[in-house]
Amino acid sequence: MSAAPLLQVSGLSKYYGPRMGCTDISFDLWPGEVLGVVGESGSGKTTLLNCLAGLMVPDAGRVVYDTRAEGPRDTLAMAEPERRMLMRTDWAFVHQNPRDGLRMGVSAGANVGERLMAVGARHYGRIRGAALDWLGRVEIAADRIDDRPAAFSGGMQQRLQIARNLVTGPRLVFMDEPTGGWMSACRRGFWT
Ligand SMILES: Nc1ncnc2c1ncn2[C@@H]1O[C@H](COP(=O)(O)OP(=O)(O)OP(=O)(O)O)[C@@H](O)[C@H]1O
Ligand SMILES: [Mg+2]
Repeated sequence: MSAAPLLQVSGLSKYYGPRMGCTDISFDLWPGEVLGVVGESGSGKTTLLNCLAGLMVPDAGRVVYDTRAEGPRDTLAMAEPERRMLMRTDWAFVHQNPRDGLRMGVSAGANVGERLMAVGARHYGRIRGAALDWLGRVEIAADRIDDRPAAFSGGMQQRLQIARNLVTGPRLVFMDEPTGGWMSACRRGFWT
């Protein structure tokens, strides 16, 4: 059992002017745990995830992440480069809109390989091999590896985004409706 939760969130609030994004959110997330956030459209799920991952600055609250090197650290107090490093090495973020999480101008293989290169991979053959493996896991045919995401359907783009995010084996994955728009059988397959 770990000594500390992976993520400790307390009193997190974000307003857009007078409009509420999310308010007073608190929870602990332990290693190996999966936390699902359910709420109607416009209830603040995307806002919350953006604040947790440092993509948006909340108006109040704390987000403490159990870093590998130094233990629990307040991510909102971190310098931007440090948070960006966490995004590359420890965290993954699957955006609700795949266009926000993919690089639309480069191939599917490069979208996956780029994440590996960001954590130090350099061997072209191994990077391409890992990209092929992950495309297979999300059921994208191998012969689509050199296609750009713009040539993929919405559901395929979302699966590519998932492959790109999971290829580095992140410690913490934020997913914003990753199966939105999928058929229910596919959705069940993903979550089980
Ligand atoms: N950039 C923004 N500027 C102003 N208001 C915003 C902005 N983004 C979100 N909001 C508002 O914050 C509230 C929460 O929106 P959010 O996108 O977090 O909801 P959600 O639960 O993710 O919805 P959905 O299920 O439709 O994706 C909504 O009232 C929305 O209008
Ligand atoms: Mg949303």
